[in-house]
Parts: sequence; C-alpha cells; structure tokens
Amino acid sequence: MYDAVGFLGTGNMGSAVARAVYRSGEAKQIWLANRTPAKAEALAAQLPGAGVCTNRELVDRCDVIFLGVKPQMMEGVIRELRDGLKASQKRRILVSMAAGLSCERLSAMLGQTTTWIRMMPNTPAAIGAGVVQYCGLWASQEDLDAFARLIAPAGLVDQLDEKLMDAATCVSGCGPAFACLFAEALADGGVACGLPRDKAVEYAAKMLEGTARLLLESGKHPGALKDAVCSPGGTTIQGVRRLEEQGVRGAVMDAVMAAYEKTLAL
Ligand SMILES: NC(=O)c1ccc[n+]([C@@H]2O[C@H](COP(=O)([O-])OP(=O)(O)OC[C@H]3O[C@@H](n4cnc5c(N)ncnc54)[C@H](OP(=O)(O)O)[C@@H]3O)[C@@H](O)[C@H]2O)c1
Repeated sequence: MYDAVGFLGTGNMGSAVARAVYRSGEAKQIWLANRTPAKAEALAAQLPGAGVCTNRELVDRCDVIFLGVKPQMMEGVIRELRDGLKASQKRRILVSMAAGLSCERLSAMLGQTTTWIRMMPNTPAAIGAGVVQYCGLWASQEDLDAFARLIAPAGLVDQLDEKLMDAATCVSGCGPAFACLFAEALADGGVACGLPRDKAVEYAAKMLEGTARLLLESGKHPGALKDAVCSPGGTTIQGVRRLEEQGVRGAVMDAVMAAYEKTLAL
C-alpha cells in the first residue's frame, strides 16, 4: 500500500491506468497532473477522493509517479522533474508507459539513480480487461510485486524480460487498434449484407469477445477453433478462402512487424 500515487499525463493511457490503480485500493491518495488541467480535473471528478496538482507538486507528494506522456515528450518531462527528485528525501518510483523507451534510456535521461518500472498497458485496462507487461531497473522483486498489486485491476499483469517488451508492445499494446479495425470491417460487411449498423457492431464485438474467451479458456490452438467453425462444403470456409486470397495473415504479421520497427526507432 502506497501513501500517494501520481499520474503525470492523463490522456488516453494515463487515465486508463489511473482508473485501474484507483480500483486496486493500494494507493491511499491519488494525484493527477496534466498539461491541460481540465483533462485531469475531468478524470478526478470520476475518481472520488483523487486530487489535481502540478507536475512539481506530484514529485513532492507521491511515492510512485506514472509518466503518461508521449515518448517524444518524455525527455523534457523528466528534465522538468529532475530538481524536485534530487531535492526530495523520499524514495520515488518512476513508472513509464512509453513505447520503445528502455529503462536504461529513461534512467540516462534522468541522470540520477531512481527505481524505474517500465510498463506496457493497453486501452482495455480502463475496464479491467487489459494486458500489462512490466519490468524494472534498480527495482527489487518486492518493488515489482507491489507494482503488480497496484495495477492488478487492469487485467492480465505479466512480468517480462525487458528485451521482449518491444515485441509485446506490438501485440497487446497496439493490438486494440488492429482488433477494432477488424471489428469495424466485419460490421461493414454485415451492413453491406443488410444488417443495421448498431446490430452489426454489437454482433462483431461480442463475437470477438466470445472467441477470445473460448481461445483462453479452452487452451486450444487458434487453428483448431477455426477448423471447428468450417463445415466441409460450408459457408465459413468460403470466407476463410477469401481472407487467405487477400493475404490477411501476412498483412497482420506485417502490421505487428511495422509497429515493431517504429518502436525500435523511437
Ligand atoms: N494509447 C495507447 O493505446 C497506448 C498503449 C500503450 C502505451 N501507450 C503510451 O502511453 C503514453 C501516452 O499515450 P496516450 O495515447 O495516452 O497519449 P495522449 O492521449 O496524448 O496523452 C498524453 C497526455 O500527456 C499530457 N502531457 C503532455 N506533456 C505534458 C507535460 N509536460 N506535463 C503534464 N502532462 C503532459 C497531455 O496533455 P494535453 O491534454 O495538454 O495534451 C496528454 O493528456 C505514450 O508514451 C504511449 O507510448 C499508449
């Protein structure tokens, strides 16, 4: 249990992570800071008891500080925090959710020894159905376990070797965009065949949720679950044939690898 946990940057991901931490009950106090304060105030209004403050106040008050800014903004933000961290007598844990930035690089940006945790969340963390990988630098196993408790309500929480973080980013961090693209395309197909849009979207989303649960709970290979839907001479295998003709597998693999190349270049 931490006395105070802070969030610097309450955009899409920072706010999703803040919601999860809030639900954990592992933080006595939550502080939110954002460049545009109205965004932090709107989030605080949804998290009773959470307060809004400046970046500097966050450093003074919080034991754990989540940095939820874009990777390109990270160096400037860390520079801004440096003096406050140096002046503080208390130990601080800094948590980065930025794609592509290793703990070593973050630590070099700060230029002083502090416990770092690097996490890779995804947007479904906001509703407890996310995936979070994490690793640390100058972090004890006790620090990492306490972090896992803090973030547990986000969904699946998995400690991972740092050298695999970039690959994980491109599967589960970027994945919601790929999955939503697929859901939208499925719904478009349904609309083209006459389904009302709202029903098409609901059916597509519920099917993806159900199939994901079946995959996880059955422990079966995805190919086996695909085969179970494809009756000989039936309709589904015709759709599968068309997807294969269009190179859907290669396209999805390329998407992950393109994201990976971009991550390495950050
Ligand atoms: N989006 C995802 O699905 C996802 C998944 C995994 C990891 N991430 C990582 O999460 C991080 C944030 O991404 P995002 O998508 O949440 O971006 P975002 O929605 O643009 O949020 C960034 C937030 O940081 C705030 N900010 C920028 N500079 C600041 C400063 N100096 N002080 C205080 N607040 C500042 C911005 O404030 P304003 O309101 O003024 O713009 C904005 O609210 C990135 O590092 C990204 O790699 C994102």
